[in-house]
Amino acid sequence: MAETPIESDRTHVFPLELARAMPVIVRGEGVWVEDAAGRRYLDAMSGGSMAATLGHGRHDIIAAARTQAEKLAYVHNERLTNPLQEHLADELIAVAPEGFSRVKFTVAGADAIEMAIQLARTYHVERGDRDRWQVISPAQAYHGPTMETLALTGRPGLHGPFGPYLPQHLHIPPSTWRFDPTGDAALAALDRALEGAGPENVSAFFCEAISAAALPAYTPPLRFWEGLAERRERFGFLVCFDEVVTGVGRTGNWFAGAATACVPDIIATAKGLGAGYAAIGAVLVREHVYESVARGSRRFTLGHTWDGAPLACAVGLAVLEAVRSERLVERVRDRGPSLRDELERALTGIPLVHEARGQGYLLGVEYVDPRDGTSFLPRELRVAARIDEAAFERGLITLSTQPTRDGFAGDQSLFAPAFTTTDEELGEMVSRFADAVGHVAEDVEEELSTLSPTGGSR
Ligand SMILES: Cc1ncc(COP(=O)(O)O)c(C=O)c1O
Repeated sequence: MAETPIESDRTHVFPLELARAMPVIVRGEGVWVEDAAGRRYLDAMSGGSMAATLGHGRHDIIAAARTQAEKLAYVHNERLTNPLQEHLADELIAVAPEGFSRVKFTVAGADAIEMAIQLARTYHVERGDRDRWQVISPAQAYHGPTMETLALTGRPGLHGPFGPYLPQHLHIPPSTWRFDPTGDAALAALDRALEGAGPENVSAFFCEAISAAALPAYTPPLRFWEGLAERRERFGFLVCFDEVVTGVGRTGNWFAGAATACVPDIIATAKGLGAGYAAIGAVLVREHVYESVARGSRRFTLGHTWDGAPLACAVGLAVLEAVRSERLVERVRDRGPSLRDELERALTGIPLVHEARGQGYLLGVEYVDPRDGTSFLPRELRVAARIDEAAFERGLITLSTQPTRDGFAGDQSLFAPAFTTTDEELGEMVSRFADAVGHVAEDVEEELSTLSPTGGSR
């Protein structure tokens, strides 16, 4: 099959976007991937989804997977355990924030988040607090495509036609520079949500410690985290973090939750744990969450077929070994700030660019309407999509989004390379990206001069 790209009317695959022609990627080495026609692309997005944190074609991880597959690929973890699951749990607890003591393995991110919600509710029910079920979370987030994870966001644009299926959770607006730079409005919204639900009915506050696709590299102001920690203390709900992207090194810490002023009670992680070599996620809990079950019913029996399977856990162990032995958390922590500076410098003078943010190797660029420097860009200009297209033409894989219709953020780009990317490759990624943005910006500014102002901000 040498045809590339493939149009949606020439495949039996049900693609995500039918209007998009998809290059057929046949091999990868380091941060380069190659399509069926031999065209090479620099992968600035760790496999497109931020999962391939160690790059492509890692022989050590492939060897670990092969060795384990030959010995024992699969047993279920309901009546049996296996040394890989046991060992990987030990290793994760060793790098988790203080106080975390147990790990439940999952297949991916969304099911880890669903399980985190179930464990938070279980914690309360086991302690006799049966009324606590309500979850409060920031509206502008992405937690996955399942009904519960969609419901954790307050984004009608993302919910699409599935609104009637979604449980009614409570949402607060993000405290971004545009709407709430101090975090005061978000805290006031949190107080209103607590009061509206009745704090005795609230099970958990759920959020990304540092946002990924929904608000690239954004984290609330310190004041918000401190206020959240104080309210947890006062009202007794749990704090759960979605670390599906940030877990296992992405932001220059093993877990981003360790660096906030509100250490969570439960962490859900996934992508970087398998680094694109296996589907694996994990839920980590602090001792009091585990204790509630240990002293209560002594049962939490929900789980998927592949949870804790030897093959996936062998990959997880090889990934942690590589991250540790190559000092990649330290590399990301040390190199991240200068990478952000390089990105900012390369984008200087492009009026479309509001800012380049960065937390380790999770970087983001936010675009604004250059006519006033604050409004969202008009949706019909498709700036995010055009930037990805322009990057692609320059042999660069990026991921830009346009959540404008949800009202909290406009066009934005993610920039999230593998931790193993060389300085030369980072420089090349930045330069191709800036070239793509500059090219789109020129066209867009010309188009904007013919449009009436949008007043696109909320
Ligand atoms: C922040 C965040 N949470 C959760 C998920 C869902 O993870 P998965 O696709 O592995 O189910 C994603 C996926 O992109 C994500 O970026």
